Amino acid sequence: MKTAVQIEVLRELLQQLDDGVNADAGGMRAFPAEAYTSPEIAQREWEVLFKGQPQLVGMTSDLPSPGSFLTTEDFGFPVLVTRDDQGVVRAFLNACRHRGSMVETAPKGQKSRFSCPFHAWTYDAKGALIGVPMEQHFGTIDRSCLGLIELPALEHFGFLVVHPDPKGVIDPAVLFEGVSEDLETWGWGRYQLAYEQTLDMKMNWKLATDTFGETYHFKRLHRDTLANNFHGDVLSYRSYARNHRMILCLRGIDDLRGRPETEWRIEDGGFPVYFLFPNVVVNVGNKRIAVVRVYPDPTDPGRSISKISYYFDREVLAENPGFAQLFSEGFTRVVADEDYATAETTQRALASGLMNEVIFGRNEPPLHHYHNTFRKALGLEPVPFLT
Ligand code: FES
Ligand SMILES: [Fe+2]
Repeated sequence: MKTAVQIEVLRELLQQLDDGVNADAGGMRAFPAEAYTSPEIAQREWEVLFKGQPQLVGMTSDLPSPGSFLTTEDFGFPVLVTRDDQGVVRAFLNACRHRGSMVETAPKGQKSRFSCPFHAWTYDAKGALIGVPMEQHFGTIDRSCLGLIELPALEHFGFLVVHPDPKGVIDPAVLFEGVSEDLETWGWGRYQLAYEQTLDMKMNWKLATDTFGETYHFKRLHRDTLANNFHGDVLSYRSYARNHRMILCLRGIDDLRGRPETEWRIEDGGFPVYFLFPNVVVNVGNKRIAVVRVYPDPTDPGRSISKISYYFDREVLAENPGFAQLFSEGFTRVVADEDYATAETTQRALASGLMNEVIFGRNEPPLHHYHNTFRKALGLEPVPFLT
């Protein structure tokens, strides 16, 4: 984040504290509860927002060098992501062209060749078929047509992105719209994975993103945890097309009042949170990030999986690996035991069918933006303000 923007945001937060005001959506909205409970909506979301959109599969350090690979089935089918011998990130359907077995089952590793466990057809990191045992028995095949099926892939700002559709387009200008200027300054490509956790919850995936969408609950739900470090009820908020940026307010901001603005740093008083459409929330601490990816269950609107990955600046991690684990476990605990535990109760209540809508307040602008953005992507009319 550029220095001038850091100062502007810190000024804005201090002003909100002084004036006793919060970010303001301009009105309240009542959103239909079926967005969280309808199997039809869940099915459409899966098709449009997940199979039809580029997906984050990790960060640069998850493929640290040529020959690194990772596998994922987060978006419904097996995917192999490699860094080839030229350092280029590539992605493939993780399926042998012979009879479809997965060519790689390990979650991550280092390998320049992938040999199918079934009959050992072998592929290189560019997906080319380079070995067919007993070809004289099998029959003549054109190897040049039987490489792994390639998916579009992109490495940008330290993010590794794959499109689930082989004909899909990954346009970084759309993917990072509005937040590019910030993202190019953070240097997350140099950060290293410290810790990962998966939470399998009985709640709709949008309830997970909702919990990252306001600070109204900090003094209440998080009164014994986050409220010790954060001022609730203040928020710097900007939305840009499908993405948005929130800056939460750290209590450390109080110490900036007596210091010249030239000494202000965002990490002393602000905690940026980026939402990248459709399912990524990046929480930015001092030389560390917590990347949350939320996945729906395409057949059960009442279930979702959150993958939380913690990346730290290399030096910080090397100096104090114990801190990385402590921080990561603490963050996950707050999310799981406070935010998500509450969201599971919401899911059970909404699933009763007795409550038709939920209300988003003026002080919860990110929620208005998330939900109207999702609706637009599904071809639904935006929800207007209550009058
Ligand atoms: S299915 Fe892979 S070699 Fe036969
Ligand atoms: Fe929360």
